[in-house]
Amino acid sequence: MTQLIKGFSKLSREEKINQLIKHFGLPADFPTRLERYRIGEEQALFDDFSENTLTNFFLPFGVAPNFRIDGKSYVVPMVTEESSVVAAASRSASFWAGHGGFKTTVHDTQKVGQIWFRWKGPTLLLSSLPEGLEPHLTQAVASLTLNMEKRGGGITRMQLLPSRGLPGIYQLQVNFNTVDSMGANFINSCLEEMKEPLLEFFAKDPRRSPFGQPEIIMAILSNHTPECLVTCSVECPIDELTPMAGNFSALEFAQRFKTAVDIALDDTSRAVTHNKGLLNGTDAVVLATGNDFRAVEAGVHAFAARDGRYRSLSRCTLTPENHFLFELAIPLAMGTVGGLTTLHPMAALALELLGKPSAKELMSIAAAAGMANNFSAVTSLITTGIQKGHMKLHLTNLLNALEASETEKTNALNYFQGKAISANAVRTFLNESRNAPHPGPPSR
Ligand code: MEV
Repeated sequence: MTQLIKGFSKLSREEKINQLIKHFGLPADFPTRLERYRIGEEQALFDDFSENTLTNFFLPFGVAPNFRIDGKSYVVPMVTEESSVVAAASRSASFWAGHGGFKTTVHDTQKVGQIWFRWKGPTLLLSSLPEGLEPHLTQAVASLTLNMEKRGGGITRMQLLPSRGLPGIYQLQVNFNTVDSMGANFINSCLEEMKEPLLEFFAKDPRRSPFGQPEIIMAILSNHTPECLVTCSVECPIDELTPMAGNFSALEFAQRFKTAVDIALDDTSRAVTHNKGLLNGTDAVVLATGNDFRAVEAGVHAFAARDGRYRSLSRCTLTPENHFLFELAIPLAMGTVGGLTTLHPMAALALELLGKPSAKELMSIAAAAGMANNFSAVTSLITTGIQKGHMKLHLTNLLNALEASETEKTNALNYFQGKAISANAVRTFLNESRNAPHPGPPSR
């Protein structure tokens, strides 16, 4: 039987490390390796973000310059471990900056919370919101919503809905405007605070009380956020696409690009990868600004499958006037105040770099970053293929992993130009050059 480590979370960090060494036979340098990535005075802050924190896990914080979004210039902060993402975003951003930039519209920022309950009474009696329920619940959470209302947000709507396929199961759906915060904590606090008052209302209501009390199953926000929709577009005359077209004419490029996007609209397997390339950009901004990337991802994928089939989030049109139009629709529930956006020093810095944007502005920036990466990825795929660009960065990663010196890196970058790169080939190159009597690349 598996041996449980009891009371682990209550141990000090040192005790936790000792327990792990004891239970898992970890090497003697385990504590020093963990220690190496801890930072000075601010470590306590990072320790408190999560439980059982032993050290930090670093990811590169980079920037993609030259973004022009809705007429404003940005240097976009991106946190990603994938080597080509920032370069791809930058390339696209520079190109589109010279062609009118990214144009976005944030349609709304409403989010939805759900209180799910079972009730044995007739569905007819819950076919609409019982009179008096909304003011009763709104009043019950007034102390929680006061500050949000001062900022222009709060509860905007309540609806009572039967579940789609479960008899006797209902949801009270509550819509919230959380202004510049993502608002997950606020929404969940309000919903939990409403549970008791909801029961009270049923108990006192003369029409419904004879059928007994509801049984509350759960209360939680929904990460399905189709209302937080951002649309983004870029466009230019087709003949201006020449710098992107590689060996193709601008028109051939535009047609191939459209076909590639159409394939992602039609075929789910391709759509998932197409959207992944898009999210390479969006997620990097979501992470850099301390937003919840799991929430964004879940909402985005549900939206991509909204008509019952998972499809591309972007689409391409070639107009009869020879215009190339590339459009994106993406739901993004993001915030610029509260949670990690305020607490994480690097998220704060990222937001400063963006000029302290509102939530809506940040949603536009994250959408544009996604579109930039999507444009770059599809451009590479239909011209040179992606490996050419990826491999140089991949080579650097392999060389770093093999602890190559700066001279060895320069030699390797020269040597591997135009050659196939694999971990094995790089290892062999390094071994041979290290064993060679004279410095320099091995002769082959
Ligand atoms: C790799 O991270 C992303 C791509 O696969 C996206 C795509 O295929 O569109 C290149």
